[in-house]
Amino acid sequence: MNISFADISLGKSGALALVVAEGTTLAGSAAELDRKTGGAIKRAMKASSFSGKSGSVLELLAPHGVAASRILLLGVGKLADISANTLETVGGELVGRLERAKETAASIIVDGIQSGKLSAGDAAARVAFGAKLRSYRFDKYKTKKKDETTALKTLSVATKAATVARKSYSTLEKIADGMFLTRDLVNEPPNVLFPAEFAKRAKALTKVGVKVEVLGEAQMKKLGMGSLLGVGQGSVRESQLVVMRWNGGKVGDKPVAFVGKGVCFDTGGISLKPPAGMEDMKGDMGGAACVTGLMHALAARKAKVNAVGVIGVVENMPDGNAQRPGDIVTSMSGQTIEIINTDAEGRLVLADALHYTEKRFQPKFIVDLATLTGAIMIALGKEYAGLFSNDDKLSKQLSDAGEAEHEKVWRMPMGPAYDKQINSQFADMKNTGGRDGGSITAAQFLQRFVKDTKWAHLDIAGTAMASPQTAINHSWGSGWGVRLLNRLVADNYEG
Ligand code: BES
Ligand code: MN
Ligand code: ZN
Repeated sequence: MNISFADISLGKSGALALVVAEGTTLAGSAAELDRKTGGAIKRAMKASSFSGKSGSVLELLAPHGVAASRILLLGVGKLADISANTLETVGGELVGRLERAKETAASIIVDGIQSGKLSAGDAAARVAFGAKLRSYRFDKYKTKKKDETTALKTLSVATKAATVARKSYSTLEKIADGMFLTRDLVNEPPNVLFPAEFAKRAKALTKVGVKVEVLGEAQMKKLGMGSLLGVGQGSVRESQLVVMRWNGGKVGDKPVAFVGKGVCFDTGGISLKPPAGMEDMKGDMGGAACVTGLMHALAARKAKVNAVGVIGVVENMPDGNAQRPGDIVTSMSGQTIEIINTDAEGRLVLADALHYTEKRFQPKFIVDLATLTGAIMIALGKEYAGLFSNDDKLSKQLSDAGEAEHEKVWRMPMGPAYDKQINSQFADMKNTGGRDGGSITAAQFLQRFVKDTKWAHLDIAGTAMASPQTAINHSWGSGWGVRLLNRLVADNYEG
């Protein structure tokens, strides 16, 4: 979808939308539009008791006096309560409705919409951002074009503050591009997106200025990454470790680090999963996809930060050469792990990726993301991701960023009593701690691979994919986490 910002003009064809705040009378361009339609807008508002309440919509078809095919009034509630999020929702709803109505071009007037927190230009940019996020489609594998909806091709956002809006949107658009990359990676089928292909797509970030290194199995073996390599040993696809670096901060300034679980397909391995829903395990690389999308966003918007993204990318398959329950592997940290369940593979991948990241970069902090446990959905559903951390300040920063971006995280407990559950009688630890507190013992496992760095782990099994549809997301792969972490960086670690 092509989005542009223009000064307000009412003469356009296609659909015309108008953002209306509750308790305001139609003024300025809205009043002018009403006049042009011979007062039809005010009459319709009265007849339907439309007052601009948040989420309310009023539609006038083929209105007299203007070229538009329809006029949509979109309520945003009281001006004082308006947030960036309300406006994104309006932009998303608009695209959803127009695509169902098979409109291909539209303009939306965002006039007089501002509050203490949000300037008129920022408000227009947020509407555009919501529209952009909703416009995402992943239909490249459909050869017979479905006809329920058509794509909205152009959206013109009409505002008196077009210059500010354009500038503000240019940053948001880059974040959206990062989210779209994440969504694409998660949505791709596992026969297409295997580890080497994922690495290739990460390599493409070079074009936005990210330095990308790809380590194959031979290099990882030299580094002693027995934990990660064990997971991929039953697959004919080569395991990969991808290191992405964006240096937008001061030279010599320690980087912030993000680590992602990239299991391109998780069959469970020898501890094979049951068939129902197994196809969803193509999304088990959601953590790695988020890190990749985030690195894209940071680099594209030239964030003033040094950031590294490290992703362990593997495929977990049953095979004659696959890892067995009972096997003991040695991680890069030197710690040994007894494999109890080959389906608890994400933590094995992250163990080496975390240790490598801490040792090589000594970052300010590490945030890892992983579709790690089914148990996190039992605990939190799909509204919150689980947050586990050794640092209160980093936790608070993540919680605040999550509230602001509507990608919420909920801190879960950790401690020595949970840690005991993963002691093994044969090795330093085992890779599962039983049913009780399954997400927590998984986090305890990860913590054993972070020595003295501030660290947070986000269990995104419930939020990265198949999460409830919203006004700004109808994609299976949600792109969750890019906004959250971009905000974490922007608010606390830039400049
Ligand atoms: N990738 C899964 C977790 C998962 C499940 C993500 C459903 C998204 C949706 C992970 O590798 C896994 O299999 N975890 C096991 C751990 C258990 C064997 C200790 C689980 O959650 O059952
Ligand atoms: Mn698994
Ligand atoms: Zn998994």
